[in-house]
Amino acid sequence: MLIKKPSDIKSSEITPESVYKNRRQFLSDSGKLLLGAAAIGATPAIVNAQNGAGLKARAPASMRRVGVEPWWADKFANIKPAPDAEPYYTGEAMAPYDDVTKYNNFYEFGMDKSDPSSNSGKFKADPWSIEIAGEVAKPGTYHLEDILKPHSLEERVYRLRCVEAWSMVIPWIGFPLADLIKQFEPTSKAKFVEFETLVDPDSMPGVRSRFAIVRWPYREGLRIDEAMNPLTFMAVGLYGDVLPSQNGAPIRLVVPWKYGFKSIKSIVKINFRETMPNTTWNDLQAQEYGFYANVNPGVHHPRWRQDTERRLPQTLFSRTRIGTRLFNGYADQVASMYQGMDLARYF
Ligand code: MTE
Repeated sequence: MLIKKPSDIKSSEITPESVYKNRRQFLSDSGKLLLGAAAIGATPAIVNAQNGAGLKARAPASMRRVGVEPWWADKFANIKPAPDAEPYYTGEAMAPYDDVTKYNNFYEFGMDKSDPSSNSGKFKADPWSIEIAGEVAKPGTYHLEDILKPHSLEERVYRLRCVEAWSMVIPWIGFPLADLIKQFEPTSKAKFVEFETLVDPDSMPGVRSRFAIVRWPYREGLRIDEAMNPLTFMAVGLYGDVLPSQNGAPIRLVVPWKYGFKSIKSIVKINFRETMPNTTWNDLQAQEYGFYANVNPGVHHPRWRQDTERRLPQTLFSRTRIGTRLFNGYADQVASMYQGMDLARYF
């Protein structure tokens, strides 16, 4: 456990180089052992995961950073591939890596879709720590490494539906938020979970901009039952590789049945509360963006109809507009949480 501010921590304090190198050596040796074991007929599934072969999708070789840096790439040696069925694999065409990583909303880096990939070069996701606060038995500021240690990584291929009426299918790598929550033992008073993004004017041009509309830090929140739902995911990667900065490195939320703005990026604080937290878009324009933000084709946004969506990527010759489904197609997993609620009022 760490009780320092991220700015106080030198990378060398996180993992001494010798340990880091030994760990790499260990991983490389165990990889060889596994491959050897495979040759005599043992556990081919593990070997596949080791190679990334069992995954539904991998980043193009030229873009892959696994095995080079950063330290949490080690965790990527053993990812459990997504099963072949909903809700963890949609079966639809996935958005190509290039679209997932170049068409982004991350206002800390600017407001255009290409800004996050163009302007995040100075952003550093290592070292990273997260403050765990509020109604929990184990509050504190923890190294990301300590937060990730107990969790094994898995792949989940989810639909991401933005309130701007576009959508993509994305192969995430991460672990259930419920597992992280259990790690810190919330008290019975923890009815909501609040999240905050890093604010670093040096590396985030959107944060220093005079034209920024967001009041930093970007904040989001979930009811505790939503946070504990098995679909709710903490992503540390996509396409079998570590998360690029523009997608919310090193760790972000993914809530597939809600509009994309709930899926907050580059998280530095998780606060357990008794009361509903304020959230960025709801604060800015409460008539347009509700706290719940469940995908709902029956409740329109003043600027975007919500009954259809543009499935990306689109080209001049293929412009796919598809029907939007209630809870983004995840009703079987989540509708029971909203039973008896007027979804038009609590939008
Ligand atoms: N998180 C932060 N911190 N800042 C943002 O501007 N944009 C949100 C969400 N998370 C945003 C954020 C919106 S509007 C969407 S649609 C998704 O991130 C987009 O995620 P992607 O760029 O990885 O597709």
